[in-house]
Amino acid sequence: MPRVLCAALAALSILMACIAVADDARSIADGVYTEGQAASGELLYAEHCLICHDKKYFRPVLKRWNGQPISMMYLIMSSSMPESNPASLQQEEYADILAYILSLSRYPAGDTPLTVTDEALERILVAPRRR
Ligand code: HEC
Repeated sequence: MPRVLCAALAALSILMACIAVADDARSIADGVYTEGQAASGELLYAEHCLICHDKKYFRPVLKRWNGQPISMMYLIMSSSMPESNPASLQQEEYADILAYILSLSRYPAGDTPLTVTDEALERILVAPRRR
């Protein structure tokens, strides 16, 4: 096969893969956490985060992350927060806190818990609430 054609086919297959991923994408408006997670996250938040971030802190933050995967925000909070003791909580605890942050901003809960152990978060985009 001519080289140019190979390159073109390779580029096309990458493009198709990207479209497949985008198709698969959900947003934080799709009920991506459970009420149980948010309830547990509320206690953790009060203990570890509230002292520096009041409950309104995350609305503008989520606005700024609009269109990005929620994994980016998760990465920041799980690696650098609480500022006084970075990365001191378990991954599941950060997941619960993220669920609570979404519930604070009145994003709906759903049936499936937010999982942070695989790439699931990369496929959940930050988006405005549905009205
Ligand atoms: C000792 C104070 C302190 C504590 C406790 C703390 N933070 Fe922070 N946090 C900060 C500061 C300072 C920044 C960076 C400045 C800013 O954007 O307000 C920040 C930034 C963040 C950001 C980035 C926001 C953005 O702009 O994208 C997130 C997310 C976050 N914190 C989450 C948390 C969570 C979740 C907890 C609890 C586990 C927590 N923080 C606890 C002080 C704190």
